[in-house]
Amino acid sequence: MLLMGMSGELNEKQAHKVTRLRENGIRLLDLINDILDLTRIEARRVELVPKPFATRALFLRLSGQMESLAHDKGLEFAINVAPDLPETLVGDEKRIEQVVVNLLSNAFKFTQQGSVILRANVNHADNTWAITVSDTGIGIPPHAKDLIFEEFRQLDGTSTRAFKGTGLGLAITRNLVRIMGGEISVESELGKGSVFTVTLPLTLEDAVTEKPAEIEAVEA
Ligand SMILES: Nc1ncnc2c1ncn2[C@@H]1O[C@H](COP(=O)(O)OP(=O)(O)OP(=O)(O)O)[C@@H](O)[C@H]1O
Ligand SMILES: [Mg+2]
Repeated sequence: MLLMGMSGELNEKQAHKVTRLRENGIRLLDLINDILDLTRIEARRVELVPKPFATRALFLRLSGQMESLAHDKGLEFAINVAPDLPETLVGDEKRIEQVVVNLLSNAFKFTQQGSVILRANVNHADNTWAITVSDTGIGIPPHAKDLIFEEFRQLDGTSTRAFKGTGLGLAITRNLVRIMGGEISVESELGKGSVFTVTLPLTLEDAVTEKPAEIEAVEA
């Protein structure tokens, strides 16, 4: 409200300070939410809400959310959804979105030039679908490929590091992917870029209606 000038126009210095207050407030809130999320997952208190959702609408929304970030950093941002990805899948859309947003925000954060590409593919042979986030950023050294999925792990853990964040994003992401019955992996080359792949079980709408017994068991 102060920034909108509701209590009178702010001068440049005041506006700068209020902006910092707001940004720090948002950062604290994000941190608290991340810690709560992780604690909830570890206490097995995260209940998934699997429902049919429109796959293409989800990716369109993600594209809209990230466009300004891509534009601000001057990065190319593309979304590539395989034509044979079913229009509707069953899953916890909010949690899937959280996973992709975490991966995309890392991709944008650790890339200074080039592109970020989000892909969705389906693998009917093993009944899975995959979401891939590729970037042309700083990359991850081989020894760190497993470490980065642990809590509070960052390649640069010093207080003077160039990149913001707490090191919780990938830990939350991996936990969420696991409770959804999926897997996450990373391929990367230092200085060239990284590719994060999330594989999830492919649950079609008919599969849900065909198994009422299982649903009752879960509800009980
Ligand atoms: N796309 C990427 N390119 C290069 N390094 C990455 C990438 N994604 C993650 N990393 C490395 O893995 C570390 C852990 O990532 P994670 O998302 O868990 O934490 P963060 O982004 O540093 O902080 P937070 O997500 O809590 O804001 C990062 O600090 C970075 O060193
Ligand atoms: Mg992160």
